[in-house]
Amino acid sequence: MRKPVIAGNWKMHMTCAEARKYMADLVPLLNKSVEDRHIVLAPAFTALSTLAEVVKGSPIELSSQNVHWEDQGAFTAEVSPKMLLEHQVKYAIVGHSEPRKYFSESDEQINLRARSAQAHDLIPIVCVGESNDQRERGEAERVIRRQVEQGLEDILPEKVVVAYEPIWAIGTGKTCDSFEANRICGLIRKWVDYPDLIVQYGGSVKPGNIDEIMSMTDIDGVLVGGASLDPESFARIINYQVI
Ligand code: PGA
Repeated sequence: MRKPVIAGNWKMHMTCAEARKYMADLVPLLNKSVEDRHIVLAPAFTALSTLAEVVKGSPIELSSQNVHWEDQGAFTAEVSPKMLLEHQVKYAIVGHSEPRKYFSESDEQINLRARSAQAHDLIPIVCVGESNDQRERGEAERVIRRQVEQGLEDILPEKVVVAYEPIWAIGTGKTCDSFEANRICGLIRKWVDYPDLIVQYGGSVKPGNIDEIMSMTDIDGVLVGGASLDPESFARIINYQVI
């Protein structure tokens, strides 16, 4: 049984004060019957300790937006798994298309991050996805397969989440067609060769499309950027009903 993971990625948004207010608004909006899904929030590193305090007693678990592979050392601007564990962090996003694009993160580095996360009992959320050009050239499957194979090398499939996020759908309002997203998520599960692999979809998920996305048989949750910043819209996404 694959338990869906509904995750909000706040990216570079939310001060600690804003995060407190957000949680006070979000929690009362959650349906009582959401135990059949994991609910995860990924704030900036600076808001992790505040959120760790305010999510206590709620069904919300924490993720970081990245993680380094070493426990400590001369790695300016990086954060280690040990540091995250101190703040009750359970998941770590790795390989999001933004650090891939802005900081040239490679599949090799992403794999090191994911392995280190697992070694410390954090569940890596490994993001993969093709650009618009790659899709138009018919290269989407080849690109995603390479990212999956390299990013998940030596990774235990029962302790990882893969997020299929087509780059052209991120922050653009252009959601991938649900059937196509479902097909790619199914292919990823097949390539990894593990029937219980959790595969999320991400890219312009919003209250208006969540029920349809979650009714797809191969999609086990969503990674949400923009629509997770508003407690009402994220609550609606968390409270999805399969149609
Ligand atoms: P979006 O972002 O929901 O704003 O498209 C998704 C993501 O970057 O994970």
